[in-house]
Amino acid sequence: MSFEIPSDPYNAVLGLRVVRKYLAEPVSAEDAAAILEAGRWTGSAKNRQDWMFLVVDDPDQQGRLADCGQFSQPLRDARLAVVPVRLPDGYEFDIGRVSQNMMLAASTRGVGSCPVTLHDEACAAEVLSLPAGHQARYALCFGYPDIEAEAAGRASRSMSGRKPIDELVIRNRWA
Ligand SMILES: Cc1cc2nc3c(=O)[nH]c(=O)nc-3n(C[C@H](O)[C@H](O)[C@H](O)COP(=O)(O)O)c2cc1C
Repeated sequence: MSFEIPSDPYNAVLGLRVVRKYLAEPVSAEDAAAILEAGRWTGSAKNRQDWMFLVVDDPDQQGRLADCGQFSQPLRDARLAVVPVRLPDGYEFDIGRVSQNMMLAASTRGVGSCPVTLHDEACAAEVLSLPAGHQARYALCFGYPDIEAEAAGRASRSMSGRKPIDELVIRNRWA
């Protein structure tokens, strides 16, 4: 497990692991802009781009938002969070696409990330003052990796790795 900047796009995809522990250093304006730009260029159904990127970098506001999720400590610890807000009639699939692109782009610049679910959507909508019909179901946490703290946190968790490919791929039909 390493948090090195990936050497090529394929390694960026395969090597993306969540980072939940961050250095105190704020995310630079250049890195933040690059992450948001990666979001902006994400494809979406009919190219509707039915999203807004709500940047949350006020620690008090991060804490209030974290209270809307069940496993949201990374949101309290993050140096910067982005909430991809789904506009009315937008697709959740597109929110997934834009989120992964921002996290991948971050990794190419040495910025760690972790998505968290805001299980209480009404709470998130209130904290963020969203207009009616807008949804904030996820928050993306960003910060430069605290490698030692991250490694210690991982050592205490059992979940890692992925299912083998032959358990995942089927051809032509389910049966
Ligand atoms: C929809 C979604 C919600 C997640 N929510 C949380 C969360 O609330 N808290 C958290 O620490 N990690 C969260 N994660 C991160 C996953 O736990 C992580 O991607 C997965 O365990 C794989 O870990 P790895 O990237 O280190 O291999 C979430 C991931 C996804 C895709």
